Amino acid sequence: MNTQLLGPNEIEKAAAILRSGGLVGIPTETVYGLGANGLNPLAVQNIFQAKGRPQDNPLILHIPDALWLEDYCQEIPPLAWRLAERFWPGPLTMILRRKPVVPDAVTAGLDTVGMRCPAHAMCRAIIRAAGTPIAAPSGNTSGKPSPTTAQHMLDDMEGKIDAVLDGGSCQVGVESTIVDLTCQPPRLLRPGGVPLEELRDVLKEIELDPAVTRPMKEGETPRAPGMKYRHYAPKAPVTVVKGEPARSAQYILDHISDSYWEGVICFNEFSHWFENHPVEALGGALDSFEHARRLFRALRAMDGSGVKHIWAQCPGTGGMGLAVVNRLDKAAGFHIVEV
Ligand code: TXA
Ligand code: MG
Repeated sequence: MNTQLLGPNEIEKAAAILRSGGLVGIPTETVYGLGANGLNPLAVQNIFQAKGRPQDNPLILHIPDALWLEDYCQEIPPLAWRLAERFWPGPLTMILRRKPVVPDAVTAGLDTVGMRCPAHAMCRAIIRAAGTPIAAPSGNTSGKPSPTTAQHMLDDMEGKIDAVLDGGSCQVGVESTIVDLTCQPPRLLRPGGVPLEELRDVLKEIELDPAVTRPMKEGETPRAPGMKYRHYAPKAPVTVVKGEPARSAQYILDHISDSYWEGVICFNEFSHWFENHPVEALGGALDSFEHARRLFRALRAMDGSGVKHIWAQCPGTGGMGLAVVNRLDKAAGFHIVEV
């Protein structure tokens, strides 16, 4: 299959492909998604094939407007409307009870569905033009870092999907925050583009799913099926070093070998310490929004440099930090050093 790269003035073309059951890489403010008509089970099935995604991992439905919620969800609690009012369009996904019209292929048979209204205007325009909710996981090959540019999408999906619509670099850089509203209190299933502190402004109480901060134990099932899989991982093994920035940089400096084939992901302040190694800077040590924007690009760049081992400095958990730490922990398979 020849994958077309579409420009911003080809929204109608992207929508036509989606309407006719094809797969399109679509820009969102978080990461690029691999979109299909969310009401067409066959089209949705093809997403799983293109990504190599396990069948038990449900997809999020993307809508251009909160008013579409009622078409696909039932027993919508008042809190959902308050969250939508505050955070939509934006990087928040709500787990709600689904209506029967949502295919099993989207929800992996669950009676709930993840709903999100993205902030990227081009993305909403595509969905409106397609006239149907768009099912879309992140556009990476399963297990790999998510794509934050159209080129990343092509790197993973060229030849496997019909088109990629180029909407520029993703402004948020990590996936949406997922909150389950079918339980009391609501539960944070995945930290993401909406910081926990901001969610707490609206939700008086919120529980953190254990999968947010630690690996699942044997026999334990996370509420978001996707959280149990190895994820965000570059080819080389990653060691995450946690602690005060100057200390974690010093730890890496003390432990890194002379080999060129050890790469470093670090804060801007320390990148010159590692001049003889492939280095990716995450932004200033305290700028968690910049860390989020650059993280997946940094992991992909490490793949490109061919390193055999990656050291990564780790931010604190405030702001976007919780999401960045969660992705780094998973990229490292929880291989973590605390200094
Ligand atoms: O920012 C995002 O959310 C991106 C963009 C493309 O919108 N999408 C994304 O989708 O990250 P994906 O499939 O890579 O991650 C969705 C996560 C998975 O861990 C999945 O298991 C979980 O959401 N999920 C989806 N539906 C669910 C449901 N009904 N109940 C619990 N977890 C669900
Ligand atoms: Mg994903």
